[in-house]
Amino acid sequence: MKADLVLLPGDGVGPEVLRESRRVLERIGEIRGHDFALREALIGGVAIQATGAPLPPETVRACQEADAILLGAVGDPSYDGCEVRPEQGLLELRRRFGLFANLRPVRLLPETAELTPFRPEILAGVDILFVRELTGGIYFGPRQEQEDGYEAYDTMLYRVEEVERIAQVAFRAAKSRKGKITSVDKANVLASSRLWRRVVDEVAGAYPDVEVDHVLVDAFAMHVLRRPATFDVVLTGNMFGDILTDEASVLAGSLGMLPSASLGDATLGLYEPIHGSAPDIAGKGIANPIGTLLRDCHEITIPDQAMLWTV
Ligand code: IPM
Ligand code: MN
Repeated sequence: MKADLVLLPGDGVGPEVLRESRRVLERIGEIRGHDFALREALIGGVAIQATGAPLPPETVRACQEADAILLGAVGDPSYDGCEVRPEQGLLELRRRFGLFANLRPVRLLPETAELTPFRPEILAGVDILFVRELTGGIYFGPRQEQEDGYEAYDTMLYRVEEVERIAQVAFRAAKSRKGKITSVDKANVLASSRLWRRVVDEVAGAYPDVEVDHVLVDAFAMHVLRRPATFDVVLTGNMFGDILTDEASVLAGSLGMLPSASLGDATLGLYEPIHGSAPDIAGKGIANPIGTLLRDCHEITIPDQAMLWTV
């Protein structure tokens, strides 16, 4: 196989975890006879520093020509309070390439079992696939910060089509797994969650073999730690998915353990660990690169969808 890969090391621990990833990829290429062309580009704080923009046009061009994008991390506290922030680079990349489906599998490796604070009987059989909506919700709804500094708002907005397409991904994934979906929302308070719930139920009509449960996000935050092995596919919106996957990473032992793929209708995918730039440990060579490596080695196929995550 021949593939053009764009590497975006980004900020903080990004470059060091991606360096390990590059070594693994080169070795996989040798063993399996793949021809990986690797090209680096700028994103995040390092891109702002070099060009003034968190996602420079050269990076967009490189990604347009690529088969896959591999990201380290973005985020740098020295930009706190600035209008242009490193995270905007990643958000813009997701938006521009229509990467609406973020798959975050939680599986435990026996080799790192000692990292987890949980008792073995709680963890036995844990195998969760989080399907997080990635280009809508409160991350992308209308927002404003008033000039006087006294008022600011963000809007959690979902449209039917946005919920439909992410629900389709979750149902297809569930069909090839244990056939169970837990859809997580806050429908007792939020209108966007009531729409979410209704659309998920409508999509469920086409999948009679898949069992669907709706769980409120606060309760789920507790259940996922008390009985993680009872969940199969967890379908949720952008912000809830962001928070819950950091939480669920504790099951696997650390935030450094979870890989993720951000996919859309086209074949171009963005692959990244779920963790951030961890500036407090950057440059010390102690960041756990497993989430980044797993991302390179993972295999997830969503049937009937141009979605494939495999090396
Ligand atoms: C993640 C990260 C990003 C997010 C940040 C860096 C914008 O936390 O991928 O989970 O919030 O989606
Ligand atoms: Mn996050």
